[in-house]
Amino acid sequence: MTDNHEPTNGGFPLRRPRRLRTTPIMRDMVAETHVAPADLIYPLFIADGITACREISSMPGQYQHTIHTLKNIVEQSIDAGIRCIDLFGVPLDSDKDAYGSQAWSETGVLNAAIAELRQEFGNDILIMADTCLDEFTDHGHCGVLAEDRWGNTYVDNDKTLALYQKMAVSQAAAGAHIVSPSGMMDGQIAYIRQALDQAGYQDVAIMAYSAKYASAFYGPFREAVGSSLDGDRRAYQQDPANLKESLLEASLDIAEGADFVMVKPAMPYLDVIAAVAQRSLVPVAAYQVSGEYAMLHAAARNGWLNLDTVIMESLTSIKRAGANQILTYFALDAARMLRY
Ligand code: PBG
Repeated sequence: MTDNHEPTNGGFPLRRPRRLRTTPIMRDMVAETHVAPADLIYPLFIADGITACREISSMPGQYQHTIHTLKNIVEQSIDAGIRCIDLFGVPLDSDKDAYGSQAWSETGVLNAAIAELRQEFGNDILIMADTCLDEFTDHGHCGVLAEDRWGNTYVDNDKTLALYQKMAVSQAAAGAHIVSPSGMMDGQIAYIRQALDQAGYQDVAIMAYSAKYASAFYGPFREAVGSSLDGDRRAYQQDPANLKESLLEASLDIAEGADFVMVKPAMPYLDVIAAVAQRSLVPVAAYQVSGEYAMLHAAARNGWLNLDTVIMESLTSIKRAGANQILTYFALDAARMLRY
């Protein structure tokens, strides 16, 4: 007890949490959450019919790649310690059709790139492919359109499943280590697992976009893939109002054979990540989406936020919520910051 009558904790000296914050080394030792390059999955875009890579204006520093620039960025990713890339295809508009048939063609832009990357990099990095039709359909929806008896258009769940099977098998054949169904059709994991196994691809893993919300934060992605969508995806993606529904979706996907489940977007849905992570017996991934990336970049460009610091803070918060893997367009920047 000091002369100035400092309050005590029942006679014990005052507990001072700040002692553990005194130096960078001390803070690092007691940090409850660490982000590592191996946690990060880098989403990348391969585009058909371009001769030089093209920057996506709403996603500064992210590109529609040619196969040449794609190989280059994958090599840089390996050097930075990244373990997985997630590849999206951007076909020519003239190659899109009502069913998205380029999605399962061996010579389609996505499958051709998967094959080239696997050939070049073998098992030095995991190649994950986006398993969804929206980039390949002329209407931009994630599945096959049908008309009900009142003349309203809707996405036909069950007709779409057969196309997802073809797409997943073609991606596995091209050399993908992981397929990632992102179209939110009911039953897609079971159907894809069965098709992969029947085709002899038992070792190809499935990362299920289990809790994928109908989010306005996907805005810049639509530019990135040259989406043809006119309308929205609210009839198949989840309502931002719902949490329990995500637990149902994740548990169904795990029962159907998902090797990973995913929550998407990340920052506006940290509560969902936490709830799914508490219950899941498989790894839980979170997708920090295009709008989250664009938002931080835009503020940083105005001098309103420090980009490097908010990158690390946002990734740390997503991991702290319970994500094991983070899909993020900041993957390479963050991995480099973490390494050097
Ligand atoms: C659909 C798909 C989307 C994203 C990934 N896969 C767009 C959508 O559902 O509208 C969004 C990714 C992002 O915004 O970064 N296959």
